[in-house]
Amino acid sequence: MRRFVSLCLAAVLASAIEPPRFPHQPTGNGTKLLTYNITTGNPGELSASTTSVTWVKSDQDGDFITNDDDGSLIFENVVTGDTTTFLSADKIPTDYYAYQISPDRARILWAVNYTKQYRHSYFADYLVQDVATGETESLIADSKGDIQYATWNPTSSSEIAFVRGNDLFIWDEGSISQITDNGGPDLFNAVPDWVYEEEIFGTDSALWYSPDGQYIAFLSFNETGVETFTIPYFMDNQKVAPSYPRELKLRYPKVGTKNPTVALNILDIKEKSLSPVPVDAWPADDLIIGEVAWVTDDHDKLIYRAFNRVQDHEKLVVVDTETQESTITRQRDGSDGWLDNNQAITYIGPVERKSSHRKRGKGKGKGKGKGKGKGKGKGNDSDEDRYYLDMSDVSGWNHLYLFTLDGRSNITLTSGDWEVASILKVDTARELVYYTSTEHHPTERHLYSVSYTTGVKTPLVDPSVPAVWSASFSSEGGYYILRYAGPDVPYQELHTVEDPDKPIRTVTSNARLHAALQEYRLPKITYHDLAHPSGVNLSAMLRLPATFEPTKKYPVLLTPYGGPGAQEVNKAFQPLDWNAYIASDPALEYITLTVDNRGTGYRGRAFRSTVAGNLGELEAQDQIWAAKWLAAEYPDAVDAERIGIWGWSYGGYLTSKVVEEGDSDTIAFGLATAPVADWRLYDSMYTERYMKTPELNPEGYNRSAVAKVDGFRSLRGSFLVQHGTGDDNVHFQNAAALGDLLMGGGVGPDRLEVTFFTDSDHSIRYNGQNAFVYKQLSERLWEEKRRGVAEEHQWSKKGLMVPKPWEV
Ligand SMILES: *[C@@H]1O[C@H](CO)[C@@H](O)[C@H](O)[C@H]1NC(C)=O
Ligand SMILES: *[C@@H]1O[C@H](CO)[C@@H](O)[C@H](O)[C@H]1NC(C)=O
Ligand SMILES: *[C@@H]1O[C@H](CO)[C@@H](O)[C@H](O)[C@H]1NC(C)=O
Ligand SMILES: *[C@@H]1O[C@H](CO)[C@@H](O)[C@H](O)[C@H]1NC(C)=O
Ligand SMILES: *[C@@H]1O[C@H](CO)[C@@H](O)[C@H](O)[C@H]1NC(C)=O
Ligand SMILES: *[C@@H]1O[C@H](CO)[C@@H](O)[C@H](O)[C@H]1NC(C)=O
Ligand SMILES: *[C@@H]1O[C@H](CO)[C@@H](O)[C@H](O)[C@H]1NC(C)=O
Ligand SMILES: *[C@@H]1O[C@H](CO)[C@@H](O)[C@H](O)[C@H]1NC(C)=O
Repeated sequence: MRRFVSLCLAAVLASAIEPPRFPHQPTGNGTKLLTYNITTGNPGELSASTTSVTWVKSDQDGDFITNDDDGSLIFENVVTGDTTTFLSADKIPTDYYAYQISPDRARILWAVNYTKQYRHSYFADYLVQDVATGETESLIADSKGDIQYATWNPTSSSEIAFVRGNDLFIWDEGSISQITDNGGPDLFNAVPDWVYEEEIFGTDSALWYSPDGQYIAFLSFNETGVETFTIPYFMDNQKVAPSYPRELKLRYPKVGTKNPTVALNILDIKEKSLSPVPVDAWPADDLIIGEVAWVTDDHDKLIYRAFNRVQDHEKLVVVDTETQESTITRQRDGSDGWLDNNQAITYIGPVERKSSHRKRGKGKGKGKGKGKGKGKGKGNDSDEDRYYLDMSDVSGWNHLYLFTLDGRSNITLTSGDWEVASILKVDTARELVYYTSTEHHPTERHLYSVSYTTGVKTPLVDPSVPAVWSASFSSEGGYYILRYAGPDVPYQELHTVEDPDKPIRTVTSNARLHAALQEYRLPKITYHDLAHPSGVNLSAMLRLPATFEPTKKYPVLLTPYGGPGAQEVNKAFQPLDWNAYIASDPALEYITLTVDNRGTGYRGRAFRSTVAGNLGELEAQDQIWAAKWLAAEYPDAVDAERIGIWGWSYGGYLTSKVVEEGDSDTIAFGLATAPVADWRLYDSMYTERYMKTPELNPEGYNRSAVAKVDGFRSLRGSFLVQHGTGDDNVHFQNAAALGDLLMGGGVGPDRLEVTFFTDSDHSIRYNGQNAFVYKQLSERLWEEKRRGVAEEHQWSKKGLMVPKPWEV
C-alpha cells in the first residue's frame, strides 16, 4: 500500500524533470550488459555528472562563477542569466590546481605547480593576479612549489595569509611578514600534522580569520617525541629504481604512543602581536582540539572544542580575544560511547524567539536590516544573548541546537528518532537553518529548513518519496541548486527560496546518461531493513545479476565498509562501477549484498556505540548473519558454497575478521584490500576514539586484532590481501604482519595470496596499478565461481585461449 502511494507522489514530484525519475535505482530497458571496459577499464561514459557552482558574494544575490567552454571564467547570475567574462581563457595559468577570488573580486589567488601530499594537503606555488590587467606576480619570489596553504583575508584584497616551512606568513601588497619562526619537522604552525589532517580536521589548514579580518586564530602542533614511521619509495616516480629508496619520515602517532601537543594562538594582524591562549581544559598530553570557530560578527570571542585523548569527554571553551580569558561554557561525558567531531559550530548572534503561529512575512522584510551586520553597530550584546548553532547527539540522535555563549541555555531546533546528516546553509537574514536529515529513513536524505526564531520546520522536497537530496545555496541564501542524488539518475535544478516547489530551470539533467541506460539490462538493486535478533534493523542493499533467473544459482559477494559512524547503504544512485560489472558479466554473475552492520552511522547513538571498545566483533558477526539471511531468503538463487566478502580499508579489516570467525560453512573466500590487521598499528586519534588506549583496554586490542589462523586455514576458497607499499595511512606493515601470521600459521599457497603494490598509497593508483587491483579481484571471483566445477569454460574451449574481459 505504502509503496503504491509513494509511486503516485513520485510521478507528481518528478513532473519537473524530464524524463521523470522513479523512487528506485534504474533497471534499464534494453538488452546490453555492462562490460568490464565501460565500468572499470575505461569508466566515465556511464557516470552521472554534477555541476558544482562557486557562488560569489556581490551586490546581487545569485551570482556564481563558472568555466566557459573555452576555459574562461564567467560570472553568471541565476536570476537574470546575464553572463560577464570575469577572466578570459588566455589569462588563466595553464597548470593551475585551484583558485580563490579576493573579497573585492579585483584579484585572483592561483595555486599552480601542484604536488599532492596527504589526503587534503598539497604543495604549490601561488600567483596573485590583477583581474583588470591580467598581470600576475608570485606570492613570494623564491617559492619552489613548497607553499603549504594560502588564503585571502575575508575582508581585504590586499592581504593573504600563507604557510611555508610550517611557518605562518602574512602577505600585504607584496610585503611579507613572518609571523612564526619555530616551524620545522617538529613544529607545525597553522597547518595540521598528518594525524590532525586525516582524523580531526579533514582539511589542509588550521587557521581561522576573524569575521572582520583583524585577527587570525591558529593552532600549532608540537611533534617532539611523536614517533616516526618511515615509508620507502622504491621507484619514487623514476623509470629505474634508485639504489637506495627515498624514505619519507612521517610523524605518525600510533595507538598508545605520544601524540602531538596542540597550542592555540591569536594573532592581532595590525599589531603583528601574537598571544598564546592558555588551554587547561585537559593536561597537554591528554588534549585534542577538534574545532575552532569565531563566535562574533567582529573579533571579540572565539570558541574551541577540547576533547580528552580518547574523545569520550569534551569541553567547549569560549575565549575573550582581548584578555585571552577562557571560560568552559559546555561540557559532556560521552563515555557511554564516543564523541564525534562534527565541526558544525556557526555563529548566529542574538535571537528573538517568536511563537510559531505569530508568523510574520517571509524572507527579508523583517525590518532588522541585513542579518550579518547586526551586533556590530548595535553595541555589545552579552554572552547570554548571543547564540551559536551546533550539533549534538546527547538525546541519542544527532540534532541541531542553538547555544548561548555563556552556556546557560539552549534552544532545540530539531528532535526525534532520526538524525541531522548535514547543515547546508545558515541564513541569518531569514533566520533559517537548511539541513538534510534521515527523518524518513536512515538511508535517505531529505532537505528541510528550520526557523530558529519560530521553530517552524519546512520540507523543501517531498519527504514521502525515498530519495537522497542535497543543495548548494547562493551567498545571500535567496537561491539554491537542488541536487537529486538518487536512487534514479541524478539531476540538478535551480530554485528560489521564495517558491521552492517551482524550479527556475534544470541545471543538470543527465539526459544522455538516462537515455544510454535505457539500452542496458542493469542489475536490480533493492533495499532492505534486516530485522536483527538484537532488536535493531540493519540497512542492506541487494544487487541481483542483470540476467537473474530465480531458478539459477549465483555466487555472492558481500561488499561492506562497516567502520564506526560510516554509511555504505543509502539510496543515492549507485555508480555503474566494478560492483555493477560483476553482477552483469555472464562469466561472473555475482549477487552483491552490502550491509551496514552495528556501529555504522545514521541509526542513532545507541546503534553506533555498541562497537565501542571492541571493534571487529559485532561487525563480523553481523556480516555473517546477513549472509545467512540471504541464503535463507533466496534458497534457490544463492549458491551457499560460494559466498565471499571483499572490502577496502576498514572493509578489508572486516573481511579479515569475518574469515577469522571461522564460519567456513557460510563464508567461502575473502578479498582484503589495504586492510588494517591490528589496531595497534593504526593512528591514535581515530583508533582511540573507538577503542580507548591499549593501557585502558588491553583485552579489547587483543580481541580486535586479526590473530587466529584457523578460519583462514579452513576456507573452502581462498584469501587475498592487496596493499600499497607507499600507504601513508594504513601502513603496508598491516599486510606484512597479516602475511606473516597466515604463512607462519600454516595457511598454504592454495588458500593465500598476498599482493603488494609498489609505492601506491591507500587508494592504490601509482603507475596504473588500480587496473591490476580490479583485474585481480575479477580473476579471483572467476576462479571462485569455477572452484570445484569440472566443466570446460568457453575461454579455454578447444585449447583456444580467448582473453577474459579484464585481460583485454
Ligand atoms: C521499455 O521499452 C519498451 C519498448 O522497447 C517500451 O514500450 C516501454 O515503454 C519502455 N519502458 C520504459 C519504462 O521506458
Ligand atoms: C572502452 O571504453 C572506451 C571509453 O568508453 C571506448 O572508447 C573504447 O572503445 C572501449 N573499448 C572496447 C574494447 O570496448
Ligand atoms: C614546482 O615544484 C617543484 C617541487 O614540487 C619544485 O622543485 C619546482 O621548482 C617548482 N617549479 C616552479 C617553476 O616553481
Ligand atoms: C615542543 O615540545 C618540546 C617537548 O615538550 C619542548 O621542549 C619544546 O619547547 C616545544 N616547542 C615549542 C615551540 O613549544
Ligand atoms: C563594545 O566593546 C568595545 C570594546 O570591547 C568598546 O570599545 C565599546 O565602547 C563597546 N560598545 C558598547 C555600546 O558598549
Ligand atoms: C540544553 O540544556 C538543558 C538544561 O541545562 C540540558 O539538560 C540539555 O542537555 C542541553 N542540551 C544540549 C544539547 O546540550
Ligand atoms: C525496522 O524496519 C521496519 C521496516 O522498515 C520498520 O517497520 C521497523 O519499525 C524498524 N524497526 C526499528 C527498530 O527500527
Ligand atoms: C594480549 O595478548 C598477548 C599476546 O597474545 C598476551 O601476552 C596478553 O596477556 C594479552 N593481554 C590481555 C589483557 O588479554
